[in-house]
Amino acid sequence: MTEKRSIPVLFTAAEIKERVEAMAGEIAAKLPADFLIVSLLRGSFMFTADLVRELYAVGVHPQIDFMTLSSYGAGAQSSGNVAIGRDIADDVTGRTVLIVDDILETGRTLRYAHDLLIERGAADVKIAMLLEKPNKLEVAAKADFVGFSIPDKFVVGYGLDYANHYRELPFIGYLDVH
Ligand code: IMP
Ligand code: MG
Repeated sequence: MTEKRSIPVLFTAAEIKERVEAMAGEIAAKLPADFLIVSLLRGSFMFTADLVRELYAVGVHPQIDFMTLSSYGAGAQSSGNVAIGRDIADDVTGRTVLIVDDILETGRTLRYAHDLLIERGAADVKIAMLLEKPNKLEVAAKADFVGFSIPDKFVVGYGLDYANHYRELPFIGYLDVH
């Protein structure tokens, strides 16, 4: 087993659960009954899994698909280019789509995903972001639902990675890589 350094905690599992539960309520109040979640892998897998269960608890039953986008290489610096790895299987024509993503930094990933789904004929595209770093935004991109606004730290855990490590942490912590 790889040894891992101890990670300072930004949000505990309990704090995340409480916030995700509240977000489900916000989404239930604003979205129509029928919508498709497009979860952006890999970072949002844990958030998506928890969010859909909280949506179920408030009587919302979305369809769910996944898309793999990457703007980062192996490390902590954005490459600036967004590429599709795995695409969604469902047709978005005429649908209300909720993009679920882990973190908004420069905004490039979200901008790309949003524009792609609109181009493909989605009727409406809304965005649920677990985290946002408001000071790092470089392109026009705005989430409709935000879990937490965070300072400019490199965060890991709860799906978020550094070189594909730390995704399994049940809390969100930060690394000193800047
Ligand atoms: P953007 O395209 O610059 O907004 O970057 C968004 C993507 O970069 C996210 O979906 C993450 O995959 C990754 N990312 C940005 N900041 C962090 C971080 O602090 N920790 C882990 N991944 C991050
Ligand atoms: Mg991501």
